[in-house]
Amino acid sequence: MTNMITAHVVYATITGNNEDIADIVTEHLEDAGVKVTETEISQTDPSVFEDVDICVVCPYTYDEGALPEEGLDFYEDLSDEKLSGKVFGVAGSGDTFYEEYYNVSVDKFEEAFKKTGATIGADSVKINLEPDEDDIKKLDAFTEKLIEKAKSLQ
Ligand SMILES: Cc1cc2nc3c(=O)[nH]c(=O)nc-3n(C[C@H](O)[C@H](O)[C@H](O)COP(=O)(O)O)c2cc1C
Repeated sequence: MTNMITAHVVYATITGNNEDIADIVTEHLEDAGVKVTETEISQTDPSVFEDVDICVVCPYTYDEGALPEEGLDFYEDLSDEKLSGKVFGVAGSGDTFYEEYYNVSVDKFEEAFKKTGATIGADSVKINLEPDEDDIKKLDAFTEKLIEKAKSLQ
Protein backbone atom coordinates (compact mmCIF):
# COMPACT_ATOMS: atom_id res chain seq x y z
CA MET A 1 0.00 0.00 0.00
CA THR A 2 1.27 3.48 -0.81
CA ASN A 3 1.18 6.24 1.78
CA MET A 4 -1.68 8.72 1.67
CA ILE A 5 -0.72 11.83 -0.28
CA THR A 6 -1.00 15.13 1.60
CA ALA A 7 -1.40 18.69 0.35
CA HIS A 8 -1.64 22.28 1.57
CA VAL A 9 -3.43 24.95 -0.48
CA VAL A 10 -2.77 28.62 0.38
CA TYR A 11 -4.76 31.49 -1.14
CA ALA A 12 -4.70 35.28 -1.11
CA THR A 13 -7.93 37.08 -1.95
CA ILE A 14 -9.72 40.40 -1.75
CA THR A 15 -12.90 39.75 -3.72
CA GLY A 16 -13.03 35.93 -3.49
CA ASN A 17 -11.84 34.74 -6.91
CA ASN A 18 -8.64 33.16 -5.63
CA GLU A 19 -10.48 31.60 -2.71
CA ASP A 20 -12.81 30.03 -5.31
CA ILE A 21 -9.78 28.68 -7.18
CA ALA A 22 -8.32 27.28 -3.94
CA ASP A 23 -11.71 25.68 -3.13
CA ILE A 24 -11.89 24.03 -6.58
CA VAL A 25 -8.34 22.62 -6.24
CA THR A 26 -8.96 21.51 -2.65
CA GLU A 27 -12.21 19.76 -3.53
CA HIS A 28 -10.58 17.92 -6.42
CA LEU A 29 -7.69 16.81 -4.19
CA GLU A 30 -10.16 15.56 -1.56
CA ASP A 31 -12.16 13.66 -4.19
CA ALA A 32 -8.91 11.98 -5.26
CA GLY A 33 -8.26 10.83 -1.69
CA VAL A 34 -5.58 13.39 -0.86
CA LYS A 35 -5.49 14.71 2.72
CA VAL A 36 -5.61 18.49 2.21
CA THR A 37 -5.59 21.67 4.28
CA GLU A 38 -6.63 25.06 2.85
CA THR A 39 -5.61 28.33 4.53
CA GLU A 40 -5.47 32.08 3.90
CA ILE A 41 -2.00 33.48 3.21
CA SER A 42 -1.71 36.01 6.07
CA GLN A 43 -2.67 33.24 8.52
CA THR A 44 -0.05 30.82 7.14
CA ASP A 45 3.67 30.26 7.55
CA PRO A 46 5.32 28.61 4.55
CA SER A 47 6.86 26.01 6.88
CA VAL A 48 3.47 24.21 6.61
CA PHE A 49 4.73 22.97 3.22
CA GLU A 50 7.46 20.96 5.01
CA ASP A 51 4.78 18.55 6.24
CA VAL A 52 3.03 17.77 2.92
CA ASP A 53 3.70 16.23 -0.51
CA ILE A 54 1.86 18.83 -2.65
CA CYS A 55 2.22 22.61 -2.11
CA VAL A 56 -0.21 24.99 -3.87
CA VAL A 57 -0.47 28.79 -3.87
CA CYS A 58 -3.40 30.74 -5.39
CA PRO A 59 -2.47 34.45 -5.38
CA TYR A 60 -4.08 37.59 -6.80
CA THR A 61 -2.04 40.38 -8.44
CA TYR A 62 -2.52 44.03 -7.52
CA ASP A 63 -1.31 47.52 -8.45
CA GLU A 64 0.37 46.64 -11.76
CA GLY A 65 2.25 43.49 -10.93
CA ALA A 66 2.32 43.69 -7.13
CA LEU A 67 2.12 40.68 -4.85
CA PRO A 68 -0.67 40.55 -2.25
CA GLU A 69 0.39 42.96 0.50
CA GLU A 70 -0.79 40.60 3.27
CA GLY A 71 1.26 37.79 1.69
CA LEU A 72 4.65 39.54 1.53
CA ASP A 73 6.05 37.84 4.66
CA PHE A 74 4.87 34.47 3.36
CA TYR A 75 6.48 35.16 -0.03
CA GLU A 76 9.82 36.24 1.48
CA ASP A 77 9.97 33.25 3.79
CA LEU A 78 8.91 30.78 1.09
CA SER A 79 12.10 31.31 -0.93
CA ASP A 80 14.14 30.27 2.13
CA GLU A 81 12.26 26.99 2.65
CA LYS A 82 13.93 23.70 1.65
CA LEU A 83 11.22 21.76 -0.20
CA SER A 84 13.13 19.32 -2.36
CA GLY A 85 11.20 16.09 -2.93
CA LYS A 86 7.91 17.99 -2.83
CA VAL A 87 5.63 18.96 -5.69
CA PHE A 88 4.35 22.50 -6.18
CA GLY A 89 1.75 24.24 -8.33
CA VAL A 90 0.57 27.83 -8.68
CA ALA A 91 -2.87 28.86 -9.96
CA GLY A 92 -4.14 32.43 -9.68
CA SER A 93 -6.72 34.92 -10.84
CA GLY A 94 -5.85 38.35 -12.24
CA ASP A 95 -7.40 40.58 -14.89
CA THR A 96 -6.28 40.72 -18.54
CA PHE A 97 -7.11 44.45 -18.44
CA TYR A 98 -3.68 44.88 -16.79
CA GLU A 99 -1.99 43.48 -19.92
CA GLU A 100 1.75 42.97 -19.26
CA TYR A 101 1.04 42.81 -15.52
CA TYR A 102 -1.55 40.06 -15.98
CA ASN A 103 -1.19 37.50 -13.17
CA VAL A 104 2.41 38.50 -12.44
CA SER A 105 2.06 37.11 -8.89
CA VAL A 106 1.63 33.63 -10.36
CA ASP A 107 5.03 33.92 -12.08
CA LYS A 108 6.61 35.36 -8.92
CA PHE A 109 5.37 32.47 -6.77
CA GLU A 110 6.56 29.95 -9.37
CA GLU A 111 10.04 31.50 -9.16
CA ALA A 112 9.99 31.48 -5.34
CA PHE A 113 9.03 27.78 -5.32
CA LYS A 114 11.84 26.97 -7.76
CA LYS A 115 14.33 28.42 -5.24
CA THR A 116 13.11 25.94 -2.62
CA GLY A 117 14.17 22.93 -4.69
CA ALA A 118 10.57 21.72 -5.02
CA THR A 119 9.54 20.06 -8.30
CA ILE A 120 6.98 21.77 -10.52
CA GLY A 121 4.04 19.37 -10.82
CA ALA A 122 1.99 21.16 -13.48
CA ASP A 123 2.24 24.31 -15.57
CA SER A 124 0.95 27.33 -13.66
CA VAL A 125 -2.65 28.29 -14.37
CA LYS A 126 -3.63 31.93 -15.00
CA ILE A 127 -7.32 32.75 -14.77
CA ASN A 128 -9.08 35.94 -15.82
CA LEU A 129 -11.31 37.11 -12.94
CA GLU A 130 -13.85 34.45 -11.76
CA PRO A 131 -13.13 30.85 -12.81
CA ASP A 132 -15.61 29.80 -15.56
CA GLU A 133 -16.43 26.25 -16.77
CA ASP A 134 -13.35 26.14 -18.97
CA ASP A 135 -11.13 27.32 -16.12
CA ILE A 136 -12.55 24.62 -13.84
CA LYS A 137 -11.50 22.02 -16.43
CA LYS A 138 -8.02 23.55 -16.50
CA LEU A 139 -7.86 23.47 -12.70
CA ASP A 140 -8.97 19.83 -12.64
CA ALA A 141 -6.24 18.90 -15.16
CA PHE A 142 -3.71 20.94 -13.11
CA THR A 143 -4.69 19.12 -9.93
CA GLU A 144 -4.53 15.68 -11.59
CA LYS A 145 -0.99 16.44 -12.78
CA LEU A 146 0.08 17.48 -9.28
CA ILE A 147 -1.23 14.19 -7.89
CA GLU A 148 0.46 12.11 -10.61
CA LYS A 149 3.78 13.87 -10.00
CA ALA A 150 3.51 13.39 -6.25
CA LYS A 151 2.80 9.66 -6.77
CA SER A 152 5.84 9.37 -9.06
CA LEU A 153 8.06 10.83 -6.31
CA GLN A 154 6.78 8.52 -3.55
C1 LIG B 1 -6.36 48.32 -7.95
C2 LIG B 1 -6.27 47.00 -8.66
C3 LIG B 1 -5.08 46.64 -9.28
C4 LIG B 1 -4.98 45.41 -9.95
N1 LIG B 1 -3.81 45.10 -10.60
C5 LIG B 1 -3.73 43.94 -11.29
C6 LIG B 1 -2.54 43.59 -12.00
O1 LIG B 1 -1.53 44.30 -12.00
N2 LIG B 1 -2.51 42.40 -12.68
C7 LIG B 1 -3.59 41.56 -12.73
O2 LIG B 1 -3.51 40.51 -13.37
N3 LIG B 1 -4.73 41.86 -12.06
C8 LIG B 1 -4.82 43.02 -11.34
N4 LIG B 1 -5.97 43.34 -10.69
C9 LIG B 1 -7.13 42.42 -10.80
C10 LIG B 1 -7.24 41.39 -9.69
O3 LIG B 1 -6.05 40.64 -9.56
C11 LIG B 1 -8.39 40.45 -10.08
O4 LIG B 1 -9.60 41.16 -9.94
C12 LIG B 1 -8.44 39.18 -9.24
O5 LIG B 1 -9.45 38.32 -9.74
C13 LIG B 1 -8.71 39.48 -7.79
O6 LIG B 1 -8.64 38.28 -7.06
P1 LIG B 1 -9.49 38.07 -5.73
O7 LIG B 1 -10.96 38.04 -6.12
O8 LIG B 1 -9.02 36.76 -5.22
O9 LIG B 1 -9.18 39.21 -4.80
C14 LIG B 1 -6.09 44.54 -9.99
C15 LIG B 1 -7.28 44.89 -9.33
C16 LIG B 1 -7.37 46.10 -8.67
C17 LIG B 1 -8.67 46.46 -7.98
